[in-house]
Amino acid sequence: MRSEYCGRVARGHLGQTVTLCGWTHRRRDHGGVIFIDLRDREGLVQVVCNPDRFELFRLAESVRNEYVLRVVGHVRARPDGTVNANLPSGEIEIVAETLEILNPSATPPFQLDDEHLSENVRLTHRVLDLRRPVMQKNLRLRHRVAQAFRRFLDAQGFIDIETPMLTRSTPEGARDYLVPSRVHPGQFFALPQSPQLFKQMLMVSGFDRYYQITRCFRDEDLRADRQPEFTQVDIEVSFMDETGITALMEALVREVFAHSLDVALPDPFPRMSHDEAMRRFGSDKPDLRVTLELTELTDIMRDVDFKVFSGPANRQDGRVAALRVPGGGGLSRSEIDAYTEFVGIYGARGLAWIKVNERARGREGLQSPIVKNLHDAAIAAILERTGAGDGDLIFFGADRAKIVCDALGALRVKLGHEKGYLDGRAWAPVWVVDFPMFEYDEDEKRWVACHHPFTSPKDEHVALIETDPGVCRAKAYDLALNGWEVGGGSVRIHRADVQQRVFAALGLDEAETRAKFGFLLDALKYGAPPHGGLAFGLDRIVTLMAGAESIRDVIAFPKTQRAQCLLTDAPSQVGERQLRELSIRLRGGESAKPNPL
Ligand code: AMO
Ligand code: AMP
Repeated sequence: MRSEYCGRVARGHLGQTVTLCGWTHRRRDHGGVIFIDLRDREGLVQVVCNPDRFELFRLAESVRNEYVLRVVGHVRARPDGTVNANLPSGEIEIVAETLEILNPSATPPFQLDDEHLSENVRLTHRVLDLRRPVMQKNLRLRHRVAQAFRRFLDAQGFIDIETPMLTRSTPEGARDYLVPSRVHPGQFFALPQSPQLFKQMLMVSGFDRYYQITRCFRDEDLRADRQPEFTQVDIEVSFMDETGITALMEALVREVFAHSLDVALPDPFPRMSHDEAMRRFGSDKPDLRVTLELTELTDIMRDVDFKVFSGPANRQDGRVAALRVPGGGGLSRSEIDAYTEFVGIYGARGLAWIKVNERARGREGLQSPIVKNLHDAAIAAILERTGAGDGDLIFFGADRAKIVCDALGALRVKLGHEKGYLDGRAWAPVWVVDFPMFEYDEDEKRWVACHHPFTSPKDEHVALIETDPGVCRAKAYDLALNGWEVGGGSVRIHRADVQQRVFAALGLDEAETRAKFGFLLDALKYGAPPHGGLAFGLDRIVTLMAGAESIRDVIAFPKTQRAQCLLTDAPSQVGERQLRELSIRLRGGESAKPNPL
């Protein structure tokens, strides 16, 4: 039907006759001549319809936006002064010899090049939204990235193996999506939160190197970087330790960036312990492009009069920290108020501050609502440790350590990007390693796994599983890129007895672990090799590469923040008969759809 893509016609085609198919991007009537911008996945080309071809011209007059056309025409250079430097095909135009309307289109609900569309409108009309050049570009980038992952892994001897979508619930922290079984009334499958246990069992089966680009399902609160179904590049290897795995994985990421974006990432990636990341950046996925850092003050705030500081400083799980903002003395009261409101999102109950007007004058040179409550030694230590100079501002957080880290960590990134405290790098990857093995869950009053319960403790900490779980560090590593967690993994427990002890530390008794994980414990008994792996979040990596704001912009048919598909209107009610087959009765309030038959 066609000889070329619209967007590919260029100077090289001058003088030729081409046949093009595409969508009408815009039609312009220019006193006697009609111009049609014809669009396909490769771009736009300008078609000229002259009135001397009477039939053709009449037909062109009836063309509207998004009509599908087929054009045979002659490629000629655009007259001087009409060249469009923004288009690859901007030096040429097609003089139509025949024009066919392959399919008309209803009037689109929005202009395709409108840049201020609401996301709801875009997702409701996703088919049209995906026609927009930026969406075409994003999805093609995603394709290239996935190809680059596959090429590298294939070359390194990784085998692509599919794992089940209907499985049993594996505890990875999030809520499961459940699928009722018709054959076994009252029983449910879970959609996988990740292929974690299957890939480990494939290692026990001797496949040695596995990968899969696969969908994972998690029923969790959604944000810009989260979807209920998302895609992992999931990887597992045998007989390799942390150093080997992270080295191989970063080589993979470097190659993916080189191939898909022509970007050279550093070699090697910097590494940082989890403790250091929390201490200096208040985050386990620090954005290292931001130059601001936190300063520890807990130890010097224990004996100050200011209860807001001394309270947390004396609590075991408390922290007092500062964030120095060079030149921040210029921030207005309303700006400070806005930042105070911002840290409130993270649970902070305030945002104390000191402006350093003239450091040499000591207490007199400071402007602040809190210095009156701090003794001289504390003030001296604050200035000394933060290194604050004249014109700087220091923010403070005092609370449970988690709140201080979340609040000041987020404030650091916000200030960094809003006020330009950036080091100029486009890409800043970092491995965050030596994660804690367990964290204490205040709500459940028990220890929970920081990564997942199959992660191996550090060799020297195996003895601490029962006695000092809070000190126990794991052979776990996350890859952070520009402040996003783009991958995470660990070396796994390959000994059944150690796995049992970790389950016990998580408060699971033997009967429970037998029922839930008997299959894993059995597999570990039959000669499990030392093994480990990692999973990359493909959607997140492509989002960063595309410079998009949300992962919804790199997924063809994403869910909204409220976990709905606006295009197909899912989830939806189902018929009473379908429910009966599944032995499900709704609890009331929600109703089944009346049966269509
Ligand atoms: P983890 O839970 O860290 O590890 O997930 C791996 C990576 O997947 C991405 N990711 C998500 N992306 C979009 N939406 C979500 N809701 C979402 N949740 C996670 C992140 C994350 O780094 N089985 C382990 C991996 C392993 O140990 O090998 C796992 O699933 O980029
Ligand atoms: P107050 O004594 O409540 O008037 O607070 C004095 C200053 O301390 C104000 O600037 C508050 O924003 C700040 N503040 C209050 N609670 C905290 C906290 N938990 N962490 C940091 N600053 C706080």
